[in-house]
Amino acid sequence: MAAVEPLPRKVSMRMPAKLNIALRVGPARADGFHELATVFHAVSLYDVVTVTERPQGSGTSLTCDVDGVPTDASNLAWRAAERLAVEVGRMADVHIMLEKGIPTAGGMAGGSTDCAGTLLALNELWQCGLPRERLQELGADLGSDVPFCIAGGTQLGTGRGEVLTPVLARGTFHWVIATATSGLSTPEVFRTLDRIRPDADEPRVSEAVMAALRAGDARALGRALENDLQPAALTLRPNLRRVLEAGLEASALGAIVSGSGPTCVFLVRDDDHALDVQVAIAASGVAQDVVRAVGPVRPHQL
Ligand code: C5P
Repeated sequence: MAAVEPLPRKVSMRMPAKLNIALRVGPARADGFHELATVFHAVSLYDVVTVTERPQGSGTSLTCDVDGVPTDASNLAWRAAERLAVEVGRMADVHIMLEKGIPTAGGMAGGSTDCAGTLLALNELWQCGLPRERLQELGADLGSDVPFCIAGGTQLGTGRGEVLTPVLARGTFHWVIATATSGLSTPEVFRTLDRIRPDADEPRVSEAVMAALRAGDARALGRALENDLQPAALTLRPNLRRVLEAGLEASALGAIVSGSGPTCVFLVRDDDHALDVQVAIAASGVAQDVVRAVGPVRPHQL
């Protein structure tokens, strides 16, 4: 009887998108990054990252099920594989498959969460046994949001976003998320902010946000949502104002641009309310796509 070739081993991770419930931006630093104080929150919009072993010496390859995502060494997920391979002293003979459920260039950390998923999945596939903290250190070199994407949940981020502290947050929050047809460049949004607001103070998340999270009070959180990048995103994309207004007119508890945009997010009371707000924004025709999500959630191995 002919020998049966073993199937290549693979590991899949379901990786959440992130919102910034609060995003306060300080002055530009000497290294070009900005000092941040932000509350990251992982929500139930997911990319699936699958890593499959390849024959020895065949290197790294990457595929993605949507157009517009680089499939070469410039993709953060590819760089994650190379970085982890160096860390553990092996070759990065792996295929990375990205299945996108998160809008690309939307300010929801899709690229960073794919990078985080690759680190988590390869740590399993290659049985590296690295602790989460070490994966987060490796991830921080690849992108400011990557350490959060490895952890998920609700966390305070300081430094350039890579220094994390868990936030006491009660219950589940319900969100409606409106995407735009084309992305915004994160560096350009930060540069625009520096131009329209040259004198930045030290960033600090308001006590109103922290208290609303502690209490699990969606109504109070809706009033307290804050994003210093929003005026810059609106300067670059003035029609986002109409998207935010459509959600507020449809009785959302709060409306905010997500991170550097152009995705807009709306806090709502519960599932039924989410459906009402989703339908109203979709009917207004100002957004490309409107979906519902809950948070906090965490990365999950499939
Ligand atoms: O760290 P990441 O590669 O995701 O950042 C993308 C860009 O966003 C940076 O090159 C920088 O222009 C801007 N950024 C910043 N300050 C931060 C995080 C990001 O200026 N704290």
